[in-house]
This record gives sequence, C-alpha cells and structure tokens, in this order.
Amino acid sequence: MEKYPVILGIESSCDETAAAVVRNGREVLSNVIASQVPIHKIYGGVVPEIASRQHIEAVDGVILEALKTANMTFDDIDAIAVTYGPGLVGALLVGLSEAKGLAYATHKPLLGVHHLKGHIAANYITNPDWEPPFLCLVVSGGHTHLIMVDDYKNYHILGKTRDDAAGEAFDKVARAIGLGYPGGPKIQKAAESGNPEAIHFPRPCLDEEGYNFSFSGLKSAVLNYLNQEAMMGHEVNQNDVAASFQAAVVEVLVTKTMEAARDFGARRVALAGGVSANKPLRETLANECKKRGIDFCCPEFILCTDNAAMIASAGYYAYDKGEESGLDLNAFPNLTL
Ligand code: KG4
Ligand code: ZN
Repeated sequence: MEKYPVILGIESSCDETAAAVVRNGREVLSNVIASQVPIHKIYGGVVPEIASRQHIEAVDGVILEALKTANMTFDDIDAIAVTYGPGLVGALLVGLSEAKGLAYATHKPLLGVHHLKGHIAANYITNPDWEPPFLCLVVSGGHTHLIMVDDYKNYHILGKTRDDAAGEAFDKVARAIGLGYPGGPKIQKAAESGNPEAIHFPRPCLDEEGYNFSFSGLKSAVLNYLNQEAMMGHEVNQNDVAASFQAAVVEVLVTKTMEAARDFGARRVALAGGVSANKPLRETLANECKKRGIDFCCPEFILCTDNAAMIASAGYYAYDKGEESGLDLNAFPNLTL
C-alpha cells in the first residue's frame, strides 16, 4: 500500500488550542479543538494574556489526544505544521514553541503555516476534488480578504478591509445589542427571528470601484441607531437589528465577491474563515454562483472556525513542495500573505 504523508497540525493563534492529524493533505484522521470561549465570554471578548495561559495548559493534552484518536504515535508522523502568524503573539508562541520542541526531539521537519492559508485549505478537506485556481473570500475575526488562489503556493490579494474585519463587526454589534461573545453565531440566531428590512443600514464600499471593504462605518451606524432609539425612549428589537445588520454585511461581501469573479473570469469561488459558518452568507454566495454557472465550495461547519486540520492540510502542500522551516522560526502577529 502506498504510504501517504501524514502531518500533525498545531493551531493556537487566538482562542482555540487545536491539534489534528491529516493524511495526504485531505483525509482528517483526528481534529481536536479545546475552545476557550467559556472563559473569554466572561470578559466579552478574547483577553490575550488569558488566551496564552490557556494554550499552555491545553496544548500537550490536545496533541496527545489527536495522536490517540488517529491511532498513531510520533513515529507515524512525517512533519509538524504549525501556525506562526498572523494572530496574538503570546498565543502563537505557545503552539510554535511546542511544535519546535517536538520537531527537534523527533527529528521531523517543521512547517510554519500562514493562518489564512490554513483557512483556505479547509476547502480541500471538505471537497476532495477542489483545486486551484479559485477566488476565495476569507472572512474571519481578524481578516476580510478577497484572494485569488493561483495554485497551492501562490496567492494574491485583490482587496481587503480598510478597518474592521467582518467577524469583528459581528462581535462588536453583538456586544452592543447585549448578545455577548462570540457575536457571529449569536447574531445569526437572533436574526432568524428578525426582519432584515426593518432598519436600513449602510452598505459600505458598494458604490466604489475595486474590491476593498470597510465595516467600521456600518458598526457605527448600528451604534448610532441604538443611541437614537434609547434617547427617544423606544425599545429596540434585538432580532430586527441583528437581521438588518447581517443583511448589510452579507450583501456587501457577496456583491464584491461576484464583481471580482466577473472581472477576473473566475470559474470557481470558495469561502473561508470563521464568518463562513454564517448560513445566510453561505447560501447567498452559493445561489449567486449557481446563477452564473460558477462552482462554489465552503468548508463544513467544524472547519470554518479555527482548527488544526486546516493547518495540517496547508502544511502538507508546503511539505509536498519540499519546503521546511528552520528551528529559529519566530511568531509574526501581522504576517502578510
Ligand atoms: O476564523 P476564526 O475562528 O478566528 C479568526 O481567525 O479570527 O473566526 C472567528 C470569527 C468571530 O468573529 C466570530 O464571531 C465569527 O468568526 N463567526 C461567525 C459565525 N461563526 C463564527 N460570524 C457570523 N456568523 C457565524 N455563524
Ligand atoms: Zn482563524
């Protein structure tokens, strides 16, 4: 039987400590995620210092569980892939130091992985036939990028947010209307019982050329609306605000993505990052692609938000090209693509 490369992935860039074992870049043998949400929830958002401390407590156990679930030992692993940026520096350093120690002790190659390349690779796992080139909308808590994925190595950014990321806007609006952290899933849930046309919030950048985004004005429009209503003594319908805000975000993201697909002649479009778990976003983008005969792909829900299977998959494509990182690899909180 042919021996396919097996990669151990490690992810600790934000508030999930994760480890996974992936064979041949696409077959997930284990995918273990220790979420810190219950702790950060108390503070209404991720507290970097607490995140680092939680990672250091969880990281060993998560890796051992990933190996155990995959029914493997370090001897079965061909390389160790780890997120080295972008992200919270203290959080990144925990996973990176762990991976370096393991690579040194086991004499396996170390593969530093860009977190967004990981999010994009989640599509390779969910859809085994999915291959570059494709246009990818990457929407997470820290990033909103339209990226042309030329091949497994070359990416170019067509546009990005000038201020807040889409996920950040979800989180801030959720906090403002009293839904708490993490905002994205809570806004989606509240929106299911709300009217998306109840309040007309702005659609930033839609009348502009190019593929950039901006979400801080939309967030301010929601805050202004809440203040105005409070001053007039009106009770705010949380569900209507959530639905109207979500509709604005989805319209901007989908319109810009379809414009880029048209202008660059993309025949395939993918979605990636935590906000790609948003059902109206997935459905609207899927429908718009279908209307135009464009193939569409998005990761299964568990692979949308941070996980290590996507890091192992992206690591596999670097390994396949003979790449290897040095043991002097540092963490880069603002790493660019
Ligand atoms: O990719 P991710 O797990 O972490 C980063 O790399 O930032 O993304 C987290 C973001 C958060 O802002 C969260 O609110 C958002 O993804 N998110 C969602 C949904 N699930 C997670 N946003 C909208 N709808 C969702 N269902
Ligand atoms: Zn992420």
